[in-house]
Parts: sequence; C-alpha cells; structure tokens
Amino acid sequence: MERLARFGVSIPEKLLGKFDDYLDQKKYPNRSEAIRDLIRAALVDEAGCEADAEMIAAISIVFDHHKREIEDKLVDIQHRYFRNIVSATHVHIDEHNCFEVIIVRGRAATVREVADLLIGAKGVRIGKVSMLTTDHP
Ligand code: NI
Repeated sequence: MERLARFGVSIPEKLLGKFDDYLDQKKYPNRSEAIRDLIRAALVDEAGCEADAEMIAAISIVFDHHKREIEDKLVDIQHRYFRNIVSATHVHIDEHNCFEVIIVRGRAATVREVADLLIGAKGVRIGKVSMLTTDHP
C-alpha cells in the first residue's frame, strides 16, 4: 500500500460547507477521497496542456447522417490518424442522428488535433473530448 501523507488546510467555513454539499451530491465517503480526486483531475488537465504528455481520450460526437459526405469525412480523418485511433463505436440514435465515440491515444497535441478535426467537421452538431492520462500518482 502506498504511504499516505497528512496535511492541514485552512479554508473559509462557507466554502467548506459548499464542499461538503458537493461530497454528498457526488457520494464521496469522506473529504480525503474527494480532495485526492480533485487533485488528480487538476494534474490530468495540466498534462493535457503539455504537448508531449501521453494521453488517452474519448471523443464523442453527434451528427446528422443525412448531411452530405459527413460520414466519409469522419472516416477520412480517422484513417489519416490510424496510428492513434484505437476504436470507434457508432450508435444510430434515431432516423436522423448518429452518436459516435472515438478512442484516441498518443501525444496530447495529436489527440487535440484529432478532436478538433472531428468536432469541427461540418455536420457535427455537438462534440466533447475527455482526455485522461495514467501518468499521475
Ligand atoms: Ni448512424
């Protein structure tokens, strides 16, 4: 088991109250667990800002498959980055809309590039990227 360190934190009472509400909402068993998660999330975000950090990401997009050439365009982008694309899952939401989750790994800069191209493609209604790294304690 990893050695744990303890530290004291001074925090305005009002802010601590809000933090405790947040813990209840997110079902955290205690403050320590929540603080650890928040620190990790901050470090992952920071890694995502470093171009060379190794990242893995889920790029989620919703698009209208009736829009001309959108599916061809999305596939073209994925072939261009075939070394980085791990998988793609396609879900037909209804008669018009498709949902796709593309898993991408590689340098943060490359992952961001792929995400920008896919999310920015004409016909993509909404997109979101969730970047993570295993490179944190
Ligand atoms: Ni579809």
